[in-house]
Amino acid sequence: MKQFIQNLPKVELHLHIEGTLEPELMFELAARNNIDIPFSSCAEVKDAYNFHNLQSFLDIYYQGANVLITEQDFFDLTWAYLLRCKNDNVVHTEVFFDPQTHTERGISFDTVVNGIHNALSQAVDELGITSQLIMCFLRHLDEKSAFIALNQSLEHKDKIVAVGLDSLENGNPASKFERVFKYALDEGFLTVAHAGEEGPASSIRDALDLLKLTRIDHGVRCSDDETFVKELAKHRTPLTVCPLSNIKLKVFEHMAEHNIVELLRKGVCVTINSDDPAYFGGYMTDNFMAVGEAHSMSKTEIAQFTFNAIEASFISDQEKNRLM
Ligand code: HPA
Ligand code: ZN
Repeated sequence: MKQFIQNLPKVELHLHIEGTLEPELMFELAARNNIDIPFSSCAEVKDAYNFHNLQSFLDIYYQGANVLITEQDFFDLTWAYLLRCKNDNVVHTEVFFDPQTHTERGISFDTVVNGIHNALSQAVDELGITSQLIMCFLRHLDEKSAFIALNQSLEHKDKIVAVGLDSLENGNPASKFERVFKYALDEGFLTVAHAGEEGPASSIRDALDLLKLTRIDHGVRCSDDETFVKELAKHRTPLTVCPLSNIKLKVFEHMAEHNIVELLRKGVCVTINSDDPAYFGGYMTDNFMAVGEAHSMSKTEIAQFTFNAIEASFISDQEKNRLM
């Protein structure tokens, strides 16, 4: 199975570029930019990655992003991720970035988006990996801050396919961003949002209805509402599921209890993704392996995760046909 999964072409649809910052690069960038970090070794950093819920992860994740200052830093971060993609046979990836995490620290929107975009462009020719870029709003910040980010993105519309919503779900309902998403849709962006990671099935329903989502990030708590699962299957509404992330953040205690295979068998368009691989202990192949080891699946079922991801991706039908 390991060889089959390793060789399987993969498509990633839920990946935060800031979540690919490996401790080694964190130290390199901290030294390059003269920034103090509260760790003295990579082992110490990894020891700190013991999370009990989403917020305990977010605190460390935002702190890590402080070492990212220049366009070159964002390029290097993205390029390191793309090399991991090559290694895992990821042929297409749709990457999130969180502009507010950086603009709040005085880094310009242009610095962030250009660094990431240049690496993604170079990967098409040099690594044979295609991509799309998705800008996420931080849901713990207010509507006004999201509108500022959206306005900053308009001159980079050619580089950004969709807007999304991440950070703390509980206490920050989709309704808080309804007007921002309406504006984004009017400007021609597609929309996605994290929902049903820690929040209940009703928060997925709200996000779908209010924000006119094309796909849902996580969404695993849909299982609390069987009727809703049937609707998701019927409409082939994609869920970008992140198995190792869900274990690390205690959404499920053990991988054997994860519902991704059950949802696949019910006909839901579920996909496998790595979320924040530097923090959660694995990239795409690791995530596929973790699911494959905990659940007995046929090769056809494992490959279905890739077919689902192609179906759910934001590329043209012609490009989808090329990947099929
Ligand atoms: N959930 C919410 N916000 C995030 C995540 C996540 O899994 N990763 C990075 N930001
Ligand atoms: Zn995520």
